[in-house]
Amino acid sequence: MKWFVAALAVCALVPTVHSASDAVAWCYHLPTCNDTTWPTIATQFCNGTRQSPINIVEADATGDSALTSFTFTNYDSIDGMTKIENTGKTVKVALKSGLTVSGGNLPEAFDSLQFHLHWGNGVAIPGSEHTVNGKRYPMELHIVNSKSSLNGNTTLAVADSQGLAALGFFIEEMTGNSTNQPASWQNLTSYLARIPHQGDSVAIAPGFSLDDLLTGVNRTSYYRYLGSLTTPNCNEAVVWTVFKDTIKVSRDILNLFGKTVRVGNSTSVLMENVFRNVQSAQPVTTQVASSASKTCYSLGLMALGLALRGN
Ligand SMILES: *[C@@H]1O[C@H](CO)[C@@H](O)[C@H](O)[C@H]1NC(C)=O
Ligand SMILES: *[C@@H]1O[C@H](CO)[C@@H](O)[C@H](O)[C@H]1NC(C)=O
Ligand SMILES: *[C@@H]1O[C@H](CO)[C@@H](O)[C@H](O)[C@H]1NC(C)=O
Ligand SMILES: *[C@@H]1O[C@H](CO)[C@@H](O)[C@H](O)[C@H]1NC(C)=O
Ligand SMILES: *[C@@H]1O[C@H](CO)[C@@H](O)[C@H](O)[C@H]1NC(C)=O
Ligand SMILES: *[C@@H]1O[C@H](CO)[C@@H](O)[C@H](O)[C@H]1NC(C)=O
Ligand SMILES: *[C@@H]1O[C@H](CO)[C@@H](O)[C@H](O)[C@H]1NC(C)=O
Ligand SMILES: [Zn+2]
Repeated sequence: MKWFVAALAVCALVPTVHSASDAVAWCYHLPTCNDTTWPTIATQFCNGTRQSPINIVEADATGDSALTSFTFTNYDSIDGMTKIENTGKTVKVALKSGLTVSGGNLPEAFDSLQFHLHWGNGVAIPGSEHTVNGKRYPMELHIVNSKSSLNGNTTLAVADSQGLAALGFFIEEMTGNSTNQPASWQNLTSYLARIPHQGDSVAIAPGFSLDDLLTGVNRTSYYRYLGSLTTPNCNEAVVWTVFKDTIKVSRDILNLFGKTVRVGNSTSVLMENVFRNVQSAQPVTTQVASSASKTCYSLGLMALGLALRGN
């Protein structure tokens, strides 16, 4: 069941098995099937009004005190990642059952199914899906989660306006001249050379956890909006969480993505620019400013002689 779910088109998740519902042949690299064509080749949702990704404008994000911390279960498990796969559209890592996320004003607990990545070409061409104040980061990691109460039924999940929860993490270059850092990312990317072609997959040996990969990110500092899958069929079923902090990875590791995996067999092109362009803006919320910064703001306004009430 988990396997079936992981095979469905969730975010950049690409079917690994053929089924009648995989009908739309979409891509990133050809004018005939790239993202500009999706609204016409997958009309039902890709032309919708609640599409992802978006450009997040920091100044337009409104405070919401309901955006509390998350509870992550088994994200510290050193055998939580089971398999890594070249889908031809992304690199996807399957998660064992029992990893969950709740809290953070999500409607209920969600099962974490898989994560995958979006990139341009190493540090040279940024390829995150979301942008912040117009800035595109080198890469973006998406953890895809499905409402636990739906028991992995993706038909129900994509039909529910909040059936899926996606967690987005930006990845950028670590400062300094370090290489092979952090070790968790070296561990993960050491598998890329073994999945050069579409359909290749290998088991991941235990030893590092999802928490290890998400290093350096304050997971209580995030943006929230309601959007869609970022690949066809672009179902508007996703509660998006985009974290503000970035994961820092050394340049050599970032650069592996645009030069190791291909979209098809050995004669096909390298997988580059695997992201969808930004869609129409949506209302975005975030944590309310901390009391410390509120106080500074208040004092600043008072210093300007403005009347300030009820803060
Ligand atoms: C995507 O396809 C459109 C035509 O459908 C083309 O104009 C555009 O240049 C293509 N973009 C990329 C990045 O290939
Ligand atoms: C999207 O395309 C479908 C099918 O062509 C159409 O019914 C729908 O009205 C379109 N939606 C928008 C928002 O344009
Ligand atoms: C998902 O739920 C629908 C509606 O209840 C049901 O028809 C379908 O068989 C379920 N699919 C799976 C794979 O269980
Ligand atoms: C990084 O390496 C370059 C060339 O090897 C050197 O010029 C630069 O000072 C180094 N930067 C740091 C922060 O070590
Ligand atoms: C990298 O993987 C090895 C086992 O393959 C493990 O012993 C080590 O703890 C891992 N390091 C990190 C930081 O994830
Ligand atoms: C994480 O972010 C939250 C919300 O901005 C903040 O209140 C908290 O102090 C931060 N935690 C750390 C350890 O920086
Ligand atoms: C690679 O894929 C192309 C296109 O599908 C096909 O024509 C070609 O025969 C394949 N080459 C090999 C070596 O499998
Ligand atoms: Zn994605």
